[in-house]
This record gives sequence, structure tokens and C-alpha cells, in this order.
Amino acid sequence: MSSFARAHTNLALVKYWGKADEDLRLPAAPSLSLTLDAFYTETRVSCARKDKFILDGKEAQGPEADRVFSYLRRLFSFFSLPLSPLLVESQNFVPKSAGFASSASAFCALAAAFSQEFELNLTRSELSIASRLGSGSACRSVYGGFCEWKEGGMEESFAIPIDEHPSMGIAVLYLSFGSEKKGISSTEGMRRSKSSPFFPVWRQECRKACREAKEAIAEADFEKLGEVAEKNACQMHALTLSSGFSYLSSSSFRALSFAQSLRERGTACYWSCDAGKNAALLCRERDLAQVKEEALSALGPKVLLFASGPGPGVEAEREV
Ligand code: DP6
Repeated sequence: MSSFARAHTNLALVKYWGKADEDLRLPAAPSLSLTLDAFYTETRVSCARKDKFILDGKEAQGPEADRVFSYLRRLFSFFSLPLSPLLVESQNFVPKSAGFASSASAFCALAAAFSQEFELNLTRSELSIASRLGSGSACRSVYGGFCEWKEGGMEESFAIPIDEHPSMGIAVLYLSFGSEKKGISSTEGMRRSKSSPFFPVWRQECRKACREAKEAIAEADFEKLGEVAEKNACQMHALTLSSGFSYLSSSSFRALSFAQSLRERGTACYWSCDAGKNAALLCRERDLAQVKEEALSALGPKVLLFASGPGPGVEAEREV
């Protein structure tokens, strides 16, 4: 017997950047994301004689496996289950060689496969909490489309879905400028950013940005949503700079200028960037081909492009 789950990655339009509680992975402010159809993780969990983690076809040892098994021990204790060795087999359908992170889809798929294997019958909110304990952003991959991750205590901080207006038609174009591993992990970057004198302002701005983004989604106002997302991403990177470090490179800034120049020429296109130099562009699905073509000629042939539309929430099943 084994259990299988598939979870998709998500792009934060309002970023989770700062924890109120590091151990419980409680966010210092709410965040809001779009789940993507093109990138996902498939994970199979089964009881075994000893713990083993197979990642993309190869046995993983060291920090990657340690993080998985310390997370699983946490789930056993959280759900008051007796510890049992597990075989975890994961396949990432995320262009890792292009520098993409997959912790959101990875921990959401793992939480879903685990809860299926032990027949926990979790509600979506409980599954979101369980995913959050592995990696904060994973709690949002429980839902398809747009969702918001609420602030709150251990049992209150989970993602909730946001109904999408049918005419929104949003697409995401990822721009990869290289695959070098970021020097400062998200967890460490968040820790450092808390020392910024602007941190209290950042929290307030995220709360406001979530309210505005939800209004924009309800009204199918793509421009308004894009403006909120771009401003929030700029503020996140201003916060890291104000703490003495940055993830951005000259290519990230060129991508920002590119989005702004496209807008000046009449195409709605907005920039976002996570904890790395690679950027994401938000545009309307109908403008995707044009944005792709112009991005290639403006940013040079070395840039790699990966397009995606909105994706589904996590799915899990028990296999006999
Ligand atoms: C910039 O979820 O990777 O992508 O909870 O420490 O594992 P941990 O952090 P993680 O952080 C994601 C940061 C981000 C913004 C976001 O996805 O909201």
C-alpha cells in the first residue's frame, strides 16, 4: 500500500516575508498567491523497514533528506501517531536547473501523501496547516487559483481560497537568468529582514496589499492586481536592502524596466521576484505570446522563459 499526491507551486503576489514564530512557521503578515499549472511535485509515501528518500530517481542524503524526515517526525507527533519508517519518492516537475524553488509544491505534496497514507481525513484547512509546518509557502499550494494565507496562531494560520472572476485570464512568465543557488535561504533572509527599521511598515503594507488584491480579483481588474503585486515585490526587495543584503541582480532590474516599458507602450505587464534574481512577469493570457517575444529581444537570448497559467489544488489518493 502507498499514497500518492500531486501539488503545484505557487507565485506570491503579496509576499510572505517575515515570521511571527519561526518554529511554527507563523507569518508576520498575510500573503496572497496564484497556484500555477506548469510546475508541480509528485510524491509517493509508503511504510518501509527504514527511512529512505528518493528524489528525482536518486536516493537523497544529507540536508535535503534531513529536512524531509525531521518534518515527517513533526507530523507524526502533531497527529499523535506512533513513529514509523517511511519510503518517500518525489519527482519535481519544476525546472530546478533554471534556479526554481520547489519547497511549496514539495511540502504540500508530502503533507497530502502522508495524511492519505495514515487516513487522517484532514479538512483543507488542516492540510494547509500541516503543509505550513514544512515550508510556509506550501500552505498556499493546497488550493488552486488564488488564495490568501491568513495571519494568526498555530491553528488559525492557513490558506483560504479566493474565488476568481471568470474573465481574469492571467498568465505568468518566469524569466530565468541562471541557476546558481541563492547564498541566503528564505528562512535566513526573513530572519535578517526583521531587523530592518521598516519591518513594521512592511507588515502593514502587506495587509493593505492583500485587501486591495482581493478587491482586484473580485472585480477582474487585472491592472489593479498587477500594480499591487509589483509594488509588493519592490517593497520586499527594498526591505532586504534596508537589512543590508539583496537577491536582485542587474538582470532582475532589467526585467523590472522591461515590464514598465511594455506598460508605457500599452501592454499590461507587471514584475515580481522572490528570494533570488530570477523574475516573474504577470500578463494577460491573450498577451503572453507578445510578452514572450518582446522579453526575448529585450533581455537577450540567454534568458530562459517558462510560461504558466493558473493551476489546480493538491490531489491525493491511496494506492493498493
Ligand atoms: C519569497 O516558504 O520558502 O517565495 O517558511 O522559511 O520555508 P520557509 O520559507 P518559504 O518562503 C517563501 C518566500 C517567498 C515569498 C512567498 O512565497 O510568499
